[in-house]
Amino acid sequence: MPQVEENEDTVGLRRQVLERLRVARYALIVLAFGCLVLALLPKIVAVDLLALFLAVLVTWLLTAVPLPQPQRQDLRLRTTAAAIWPDTSMKMMAEALAAPCFIIDRHAILRYANKAAVDSFGSVRPGDPVSFKLRVPELLALIDAVGRGEEGETVRYAERGPTERVFDATVTPIRIAEGRRRPDFLLVLLSNKTEVVRIERMRADFIANASHELRTPLASLTGFVQTLLGPARNDEVNRERFLKIMLEQGERMARLIDDLLSLSRIEMKSHVRPDTVIDIGEIVQHSVNALLPLAKSSGTSILVHATDRPAMVRGDWDELVQVMHNLIENALKYGRAGGTVDVSIRFEDGGDGQPGVAVSVKDDGPGIDAAHIPRLTERFYRVDVSRSRAQKGTGLGLAIVKHIVARHRGRLSITSEKENGSVFCVWLERATVTENLPALELKEENQSINMSQN
Ligand SMILES: Nc1ncnc2c1ncn2[C@@H]1O[C@H](COP(=O)(O)OP(=O)(O)OP(=O)(O)O)[C@@H](O)[C@H]1O
Ligand SMILES: [Mg+2]
Repeated sequence: MPQVEENEDTVGLRRQVLERLRVARYALIVLAFGCLVLALLPKIVAVDLLALFLAVLVTWLLTAVPLPQPQRQDLRLRTTAAAIWPDTSMKMMAEALAAPCFIIDRHAILRYANKAAVDSFGSVRPGDPVSFKLRVPELLALIDAVGRGEEGETVRYAERGPTERVFDATVTPIRIAEGRRRPDFLLVLLSNKTEVVRIERMRADFIANASHELRTPLASLTGFVQTLLGPARNDEVNRERFLKIMLEQGERMARLIDDLLSLSRIEMKSHVRPDTVIDIGEIVQHSVNALLPLAKSSGTSILVHATDRPAMVRGDWDELVQVMHNLIENALKYGRAGGTVDVSIRFEDGGDGQPGVAVSVKDDGPGIDAAHIPRLTERFYRVDVSRSRAQKGTGLGLAIVKHIVARHRGRLSITSEKENGSVFCVWLERATVTENLPALELKEENQSINMSQN
């Protein structure tokens, strides 16, 4: 922990020594005066004794009685306080702050940095200019202005680097003695706003994206209505074609609104963990059955590897169906036409040894470039927008999956190799309340069911 290497004891001792020296100086002056009197009047013994007596008396008075020097004392106190500041209690207060804070003098020289500041900005040395750590022109300009006696203020700045960090820096003047224009010290308090800014940006992007996604089919609908009311009023052949497109666009808008509502519903209950005990195997079967027509249309086979006994998890049936449906549908839409989609359920302990169930959906399609993988669960993020639109995708599927898995306190992992397909895996904690389980129906271990329909 950075320290200014001087404690109050040392300073107190130094003050006492200085005080004694000051008194000794007066005493010497008086003694010298006494000696002078003795030298001038050597013959008069009584005067000799009187001078000596006076010298001792004045010395004693000067040593014992403190001199009333209010102004000088005040100045000394201020100097002493400035030398030891920040003192122990101030340092303790700075350490109690969760936010990083620097205490600097008015020339921007560092006096103290709390632990949070050292953790965020690396180790610091008292005596160094604060600009060694805070190299932000707008913040340094504010420190300079406050040091010259202007009011304290807050500035927001973004720190460039490998990862962008955004801080609100508040510079507050500290005056040890009241009534001075220029402060003795400055407190620079930093509040990390990176996450807040990221969420603000995401919210703004989301509104922009949602409006754009809704506006596109709406513009198409309006365009066709105008055409049907105008030039194509009596065009029997095109009317039907246009109406079909309009229907598709209307359905697209409805899908988008359904997905948005679904996302907001899940977000609203994100803090409540579902507690119904259900068999994830049944959910997979249900989703696969619903997607057989799509698999048939692309000539893709779906292979299901089930567990030898029910894989029970605590979850919400509809939400987990949404998860499995989207993952298997994605594998069919973006995998290889005529290929195979493998859905496998297995018992797998979590990293902390917690018993769990993992469901992985693997396709043998073109895979996903590594750069896209971390962004796939962002709302409206699509690797190939036109391909997704052609497949009637809204780009919200994986965002919904991520939120549902998070609400179930589970984990979603995505691995993919270019030209080697992708694997989307959902891990959920295994339910341990056995009395709620339906009668176990033992099947062959790792039973493989070919669900393809030819
Ligand atoms: N198995 C996969 N293989 C290759 N790319 C995939 C796969 N799964 C998802 N993707 C990519 O991730 C993007 C986002 O998927 P997501 O499910 O969120 O949206 P979508 O499928 O386009 O639309 P929606 O799910 O709303 O119908 C897809 O557009 C696609 O580019
Ligand atoms: Mg999808």
